[in-house]
Amino acid sequence: MTADAPVVIAVDGPAASGKGTIAAAVARALGFHYLDSGALYRLVALKALRAGTPFADGGAVAALARALDVRFDGGSVSLDGADATAAIRAEAVSAGASEVAVHAAVRQALIDRQRAFRRPPGLVADGRDMGTVVFPDARVKAFVTASADERARRRHKQLIAKGISVTMDSLLRDIRERDARDAGRAAAPLKPADDAVLLDTTNLTIDEAVARVLALYRAAPA
Ligand code: DC
Repeated sequence: MTADAPVVIAVDGPAASGKGTIAAAVARALGFHYLDSGALYRLVALKALRAGTPFADGGAVAALARALDVRFDGGSVSLDGADATAAIRAEAVSAGASEVAVHAAVRQALIDRQRAFRRPPGLVADGRDMGTVVFPDARVKAFVTASADERARRRHKQLIAKGISVTMDSLLRDIRERDARDAGRAAAPLKPADDAVLLDTTNLTIDEAVARVLALYRAAPA
């Protein structure tokens, strides 16, 4: 990456940590582009489900990932020309995204698509490996965490608001399973970059967390 490449703020962290909400708000505050890299893994899982391709078949899923016909438009995303914004948030797709993401070939297939989001005036990218693999030269790297209990509580609140009934126990179990798979895989595991700043949001509001990331950006040398 050349020295004058647009600035990147990487916001990584585990499922339901609030990183997506924080990253999108930081992008809005700065007028930067926003990459929700998890959406790409979700789209690959949705495509695999629709194509009847097993998540475990890394080669076949990577081929789907390379050919993925997606369009991001503001907060919406379409797959093969049809809106998929809600479909990629289904629980089966969440679990599937974490399963397809273990394959190095799938991750490789998505690298250039992710880097293409790096355009002036800058990019805020959220995911698991933004600071470690995709944008290792990011100017700011925040690693957002919250306790598993707090993350399950937040997810519970969101789902209840949508009229979906789930138990806290099953949410906590899903979150722990996803954490273990995302952190335990060999290819680009979920872990903070050596130069990442840890941001524990267990006791922070979204606004406070956003303010912390903006302060890190303002303090970071250009
Ligand atoms: O951020 P999310 O919950 O939408 O991500 C869904 C899954 O995609 C997550 O369980 C792991 C995978 N993922 C990944 O491996 N690398 C990324 N940069 C983003 C997501």
